[in-house]
Amino acid sequence: MQIKLPFLKTNKKATKENITLHRENIPGHVAIIMDGNGRWANKRGLPRVAGHKEGMSNVKKIVSAASNLGVKVLTLYAFSTENWRRPKTEVDYLMKLPMEFLNTYLPELIEKNVKVQTIGDFLALPEHTRKAVQHAKDKTAENSGLVLNIALNYGSRDEIIRAMKAMTGEIVNGQLEADDIDEDLFSRYLFTDDIGDPDLLIRTSGEQRLSNFLLWQSAYTEFWFTDVLWPDFSEQLFEKALSDYQQRKRRYGGI
Ligand code: IPE
Ligand code: IPE
Ligand code: MG
Repeated sequence: MQIKLPFLKTNKKATKENITLHRENIPGHVAIIMDGNGRWANKRGLPRVAGHKEGMSNVKKIVSAASNLGVKVLTLYAFSTENWRRPKTEVDYLMKLPMEFLNTYLPELIEKNVKVQTIGDFLALPEHTRKAVQHAKDKTAENSGLVLNIALNYGSRDEIIRAMKAMTGEIVNGQLEADDIDEDLFSRYLFTDDIGDPDLLIRTSGEQRLSNFLLWQSAYTEFWFTDVLWPDFSEQLFEKALSDYQQRKRRYGGI
Protein backbone atom coordinates (compact mmCIF):
# COMPACT_ATOMS: atom_id res chain seq x y z
CA MET A 1 0.00 0.00 0.00
CA GLN A 2 1.27 3.48 -0.82
CA ILE A 3 0.74 6.73 0.99
CA LYS A 4 0.43 9.57 -1.53
CA LEU A 5 1.78 12.77 -0.15
CA PRO A 6 1.11 16.29 -1.30
CA PHE A 7 3.71 18.19 -3.30
CA LEU A 8 6.86 18.71 -1.37
CA LYS A 9 8.24 22.19 -0.95
CA THR A 10 11.84 22.07 0.26
CA ASN A 11 12.54 24.96 2.52
CA LYS A 12 14.87 27.16 0.58
CA LYS A 13 14.47 26.40 -3.10
CA ALA A 14 10.75 25.88 -3.27
CA THR A 15 11.34 23.01 -5.68
CA LYS A 16 8.43 20.67 -6.00
CA GLU A 17 8.62 16.94 -5.95
CA ASN A 18 5.96 14.35 -5.57
CA ILE A 19 6.86 11.85 -2.86
CA THR A 20 5.39 8.45 -2.35
CA LEU A 21 5.95 6.38 0.74
CA HIS A 22 5.49 2.63 0.89
CA ARG A 23 3.69 1.76 4.07
CA GLU A 24 5.41 -1.61 4.43
CA ASN A 25 8.87 -0.01 4.49
CA ILE A 26 8.46 2.82 6.99
CA PRO A 27 11.61 2.82 9.20
CA GLY A 28 10.61 1.42 12.57
CA HIS A 29 13.07 3.52 14.52
CA VAL A 30 14.03 7.03 13.42
CA ALA A 31 16.61 9.04 15.38
CA ILE A 32 17.12 12.77 14.92
CA ILE A 33 19.99 15.05 15.90
CA MET A 34 17.99 18.25 16.18
CA ASP A 35 20.77 20.73 15.45
CA GLY A 36 20.91 24.39 14.44
CA ASN A 37 18.70 26.18 16.97
CA GLY A 38 21.45 28.64 17.87
CA ARG A 39 22.19 29.53 14.25
CA TRP A 40 18.48 29.89 13.53
CA ALA A 41 18.28 32.53 16.29
CA ASN A 42 21.57 34.20 15.30
CA LYS A 43 20.36 34.72 11.75
CA ARG A 44 17.41 36.64 13.14
CA GLY A 45 19.40 38.68 15.65
CA LEU A 46 17.70 36.80 18.49
CA PRO A 47 19.28 35.23 21.58
CA ARG A 48 20.17 31.52 21.22
CA VAL A 49 17.42 30.53 23.63
CA ALA A 50 14.83 31.87 21.17
CA GLY A 51 16.11 29.23 18.76
CA HIS A 52 15.65 26.56 21.41
CA LYS A 53 12.08 27.68 22.00
CA GLU A 54 11.30 27.56 18.29
CA GLY A 55 13.04 24.19 18.07
CA MET A 56 10.86 22.89 20.87
CA SER A 57 7.65 23.80 19.10
CA ASN A 58 8.94 22.04 16.01
CA VAL A 59 9.27 18.83 18.00
CA LYS A 60 5.50 18.63 18.28
CA LYS A 61 5.06 18.74 14.48
CA ILE A 62 7.60 16.02 13.84
CA VAL A 63 6.26 13.78 16.63
CA SER A 64 2.86 14.10 15.05
CA ALA A 65 4.18 13.31 11.57
CA ALA A 66 6.12 10.28 12.85
CA SER A 67 3.08 8.98 14.68
CA ASN A 68 0.80 9.46 11.64
CA LEU A 69 3.25 7.71 9.32
CA GLY A 70 3.51 4.66 11.57
CA VAL A 71 7.05 5.09 12.87
CA LYS A 72 7.36 2.95 16.01
CA VAL A 73 10.18 4.73 17.83
CA LEU A 74 11.35 8.33 17.44
CA THR A 75 14.57 9.08 19.32
CA LEU A 76 15.30 12.80 19.64
CA TYR A 77 18.70 14.09 20.75
CA ALA A 78 17.73 16.93 23.07
CA PHE A 79 20.81 17.35 25.28
CA SER A 80 24.20 15.67 25.13
CA THR A 81 26.61 14.93 27.97
CA GLU A 82 28.86 17.56 26.33
CA ASN A 83 26.18 20.26 26.23
CA TRP A 84 26.93 21.09 29.90
CA ARG A 85 29.93 22.98 28.48
CA ARG A 86 27.60 25.76 27.31
CA PRO A 87 27.02 28.97 29.28
CA LYS A 88 25.00 28.37 32.44
CA THR A 89 22.10 30.55 31.29
CA GLU A 90 21.70 28.45 28.14
CA VAL A 91 21.98 25.16 30.04
CA ASP A 92 19.42 26.39 32.59
CA TYR A 93 17.06 27.26 29.76
CA LEU A 94 17.54 23.89 28.07
CA MET A 95 16.81 22.14 31.36
CA LYS A 96 13.49 23.98 31.59
CA LEU A 97 12.44 23.07 28.06
CA PRO A 98 11.25 19.51 28.73
CA MET A 99 8.92 20.89 31.40
CA GLU A 100 7.65 23.59 29.07
CA PHE A 101 7.22 21.12 26.25
CA LEU A 102 5.36 18.61 28.38
CA ASN A 103 3.20 21.25 30.11
CA THR A 104 1.97 22.31 26.70
CA TYR A 105 1.86 19.04 24.80
CA LEU A 106 1.38 16.19 27.29
CA PRO A 107 -2.43 16.08 26.76
CA GLU A 108 -1.88 15.82 23.01
CA LEU A 109 0.77 13.11 23.44
CA ILE A 110 -1.67 11.16 25.61
CA GLU A 111 -4.43 11.60 23.04
CA LYS A 112 -2.10 10.34 20.30
CA ASN A 113 -1.25 7.25 22.38
CA VAL A 114 2.44 8.29 22.49
CA LYS A 115 4.67 6.71 25.12
CA VAL A 116 7.40 8.97 26.54
CA GLN A 117 10.76 7.42 27.44
CA THR A 118 14.28 8.75 27.87
CA ILE A 119 17.83 7.55 27.39
CA GLY A 120 20.79 9.14 29.13
CA ASP A 121 21.98 9.92 32.63
CA PHE A 122 18.58 10.79 34.08
CA LEU A 123 19.70 11.09 37.71
CA ALA A 124 22.18 13.86 36.92
CA LEU A 125 19.40 16.13 35.63
CA PRO A 126 18.06 18.94 37.83
CA GLU A 127 15.15 17.82 40.00
CA HIS A 128 12.57 20.01 38.23
CA THR A 129 13.53 18.50 34.87
CA ARG A 130 13.38 14.96 36.22
CA LYS A 131 10.00 15.57 37.84
CA ALA A 132 8.37 16.89 34.68
CA VAL A 133 9.76 14.09 32.53
CA GLN A 134 8.94 11.40 35.09
CA HIS A 135 5.37 12.68 35.25
CA ALA A 136 5.08 12.34 31.47
CA LYS A 137 6.62 8.85 31.56
CA ASP A 138 4.16 7.75 34.25
CA LYS A 139 1.16 9.23 32.46
CA THR A 140 2.04 7.56 29.17
CA ALA A 141 3.54 4.29 30.47
CA GLU A 142 0.62 2.17 29.24
CA ASN A 143 0.37 3.81 25.81
CA SER A 144 0.95 1.56 22.85
CA GLY A 145 1.56 4.02 20.01
CA LEU A 146 4.72 5.85 18.98
CA VAL A 147 7.55 5.67 21.52
CA LEU A 148 8.93 9.18 21.92
CA ASN A 149 12.40 8.47 23.22
CA ILE A 150 14.15 11.63 24.37
CA ALA A 151 17.94 11.50 24.59
CA LEU A 152 18.43 13.79 27.55
CA ASN A 153 21.88 14.13 29.05
CA TYR A 154 22.83 11.32 26.69
CA GLY A 155 26.33 10.44 25.56
CA SER A 156 27.16 7.24 23.76
CA ARG A 157 30.60 6.84 25.33
CA ASP A 158 29.12 7.37 28.79
CA GLU A 159 26.51 4.73 27.96
CA ILE A 160 29.15 2.22 26.83
CA ILE A 161 31.31 2.81 29.94
CA ARG A 162 28.24 2.29 32.13
CA ALA A 163 27.50 -0.98 30.37
CA MET A 164 31.12 -2.09 30.86
CA LYS A 165 30.99 -1.23 34.56
CA ALA A 166 27.69 -3.03 35.08
CA MET A 167 28.98 -6.14 33.35
CA THR A 168 32.31 -6.05 35.19
CA GLY A 169 30.43 -5.75 38.50
CA GLU A 170 28.37 -8.81 37.64
CA ILE A 171 31.47 -10.76 36.66
CA VAL A 172 33.09 -9.90 40.01
CA ASN A 173 29.89 -11.02 41.82
CA GLY A 174 29.84 -14.25 39.89
CA GLN A 175 26.52 -13.40 38.19
CA LEU A 176 28.05 -13.28 34.75
CA GLU A 177 30.77 -15.18 32.90
CA ALA A 178 33.10 -13.06 30.76
CA ASP A 179 32.81 -15.72 28.06
CA ASP A 180 29.06 -15.17 27.83
CA ILE A 181 29.48 -11.57 26.64
CA ASP A 182 28.47 -11.19 23.03
CA GLU A 183 26.88 -8.40 20.96
CA ASP A 184 23.32 -9.24 22.01
CA LEU A 185 24.18 -9.40 25.68
CA PHE A 186 26.18 -6.16 25.51
CA SER A 187 23.23 -4.39 23.86
CA ARG A 188 21.06 -5.31 26.81
CA TYR A 189 23.22 -3.19 29.13
CA LEU A 190 22.70 -0.06 27.02
CA PHE A 191 19.98 2.56 27.58
CA THR A 192 18.43 1.38 24.31
CA ASP A 193 17.90 -2.16 25.60
CA ASP A 194 14.16 -2.19 24.88
CA ILE A 195 14.15 -0.07 21.72
CA GLY A 196 17.05 -1.34 19.63
CA ASP A 197 18.99 0.28 16.81
CA PRO A 198 17.80 3.17 14.63
CA ASP A 199 16.99 2.37 11.01
CA LEU A 200 17.34 5.97 9.94
CA LEU A 201 19.32 8.81 11.51
CA ILE A 202 18.59 12.38 10.47
CA ARG A 203 20.80 15.35 11.32
CA THR A 204 19.78 18.91 10.54
CA SER A 205 21.89 22.09 10.19
CA GLY A 206 24.54 20.84 7.77
CA GLU A 207 26.81 19.14 10.31
CA GLN A 208 27.74 15.61 9.34
CA ARG A 209 28.88 13.96 12.53
CA LEU A 210 27.40 11.87 15.32
CA SER A 211 28.43 14.09 18.25
CA ASN A 212 28.47 11.10 20.61
CA PHE A 213 24.99 9.89 19.61
CA LEU A 214 24.15 6.16 19.39
CA LEU A 215 27.65 5.08 18.35
CA TRP A 216 27.14 1.36 18.99
CA GLN A 217 23.52 1.38 17.79
CA SER A 218 24.17 3.08 14.45
CA ALA A 219 26.54 0.41 13.09
CA TYR A 220 24.11 -0.24 10.20
CA THR A 221 21.86 2.81 10.39
CA GLU A 222 21.09 4.81 7.24
CA PHE A 223 22.19 8.46 7.59
CA TRP A 224 20.34 11.42 6.12
CA PHE A 225 21.64 15.00 6.33
CA THR A 226 20.08 18.35 5.51
CA ASP A 227 21.36 21.93 5.71
CA VAL A 228 17.99 23.05 7.03
CA LEU A 229 18.16 24.23 10.66
CA TRP A 230 16.06 22.31 13.18
CA PRO A 231 13.39 25.01 13.77
CA ASP A 232 12.77 25.04 9.98
CA PHE A 233 12.71 21.25 9.57
CA SER A 234 9.23 20.50 8.22
CA GLU A 235 6.93 17.48 8.01
CA GLN A 236 7.58 17.51 4.24
CA LEU A 237 11.33 17.19 4.79
CA PHE A 238 10.70 14.40 7.28
CA GLU A 239 8.67 12.61 4.61
CA LYS A 240 11.45 13.24 2.10
CA ALA A 241 13.99 11.65 4.47
CA LEU A 242 11.74 8.60 4.82
CA SER A 243 11.21 8.40 1.10
CA ASP A 244 14.99 8.57 0.46
CA TYR A 245 15.43 5.85 3.09
CA GLN A 246 13.04 3.67 1.11
CA GLN A 247 15.32 3.97 -1.93
CA ARG A 248 18.34 2.70 -0.01
CA LYS A 249 19.53 -0.88 -0.20
CA ARG A 250 20.59 -2.13 3.22
CA ARG A 251 23.12 -4.92 2.88
CA TYR A 252 24.55 -5.44 6.38
CA GLY A 253 27.79 -6.62 4.84
CA GLY A 254 26.08 -9.08 2.53
CA ILE A 255 25.54 -8.69 -1.20
C1 IPE B 1 20.72 22.03 18.93
O1 IPE B 1 20.96 23.33 18.50
C2 IPE B 1 20.13 21.98 20.31
C3 IPE B 1 21.05 21.50 21.34
C4 IPE B 1 22.26 21.09 21.15
C5 IPE B 1 20.54 21.49 22.68
P1 IPE B 1 22.30 24.08 18.84
O2 IPE B 1 22.09 24.85 20.10
O3 IPE B 1 23.45 23.17 18.85
O4 IPE B 1 22.39 25.09 17.63
P2 IPE B 1 23.70 25.50 16.85
O5 IPE B 1 24.37 24.25 16.40
O6 IPE B 1 24.54 26.29 17.80
O7 IPE B 1 23.20 26.33 15.70
C1 IPE C 1 24.39 17.57 19.20
O1 IPE C 1 24.51 18.88 18.77
C2 IPE C 1 23.55 17.49 20.42
C3 IPE C 1 22.14 17.81 20.25
C4 IPE C 1 21.54 18.13 19.13
C5 IPE C 1 21.35 17.73 21.44
P1 IPE C 1 25.73 19.82 19.19
O2 IPE C 1 25.44 21.14 18.59
O3 IPE C 1 25.94 19.77 20.65
O4 IPE C 1 26.95 19.09 18.48
P2 IPE C 1 28.39 19.66 18.05
O5 IPE C 1 28.98 20.31 19.26
O6 IPE C 1 28.17 20.63 16.96
O7 IPE C 1 29.13 18.46 17.59
MG1 MG D 1 24.74 22.55 17.43
